[in-house]
Amino acid sequence: TAPLSAIRLNVNDHMWRLEVDPRTSLLDALREHLRLSGTKKGCDHGQCGACTVLVNGRRVNSCLSLAVMHEDDEIVTIEGLGDPDHLHPVQRAFVEKDGFQCGYCTPGQICSAVGMLAEVEAGWPSHATADVASPHIALTDAEIRERMSGNICRCAAYPNIVAAIRGTAEGGTA
Ligand code: FES
Ligand code: FES
Repeated sequence: TAPLSAIRLNVNDHMWRLEVDPRTSLLDALREHLRLSGTKKGCDHGQCGACTVLVNGRRVNSCLSLAVMHEDDEIVTIEGLGDPDHLHPVQRAFVEKDGFQCGYCTPGQICSAVGMLAEVEAGWPSHATADVASPHIALTDAEIRERMSGNICRCAAYPNIVAAIRGTAEGGTA
């Protein structure tokens, strides 16, 4: 085995110190070392989005990234977005719109939606809008589906996931 690396990770506004095998993914560091099991492991290969967290406000597949690369970053997981008494607007929208069934993909969906709404706010084009020369991006259902296409739901709860995200966007609270 490789010698352990001592690293600091800023997760959910808390500085953690841990020793990890340098090959440890950010996902495994969160789940196995910090016991933050809200972030899920689906494929472990960058294909499902279950492991999505926010790194410096941007959505990242934590299974594809090494923990040792993130010492200077601000990481937010589903546990850091809100709690049952203080839900994040996107969390509340998923509850209100029934945006889940088994719930396994939900933490990743919600973190991804938070990052996606920030991308829209910043005017980032998607594949669907790349040829549209407009600073205002209409967040249609098709646009939401395109932008959330990295997050797979095996229960196919997509209609309600889209409704939750659209509701958040229209409420302007994200
Ligand atoms: Fe990371 Fe599937 S577990 S993308
Ligand atoms: Fe079951 Fe999405 S709610 S995988």
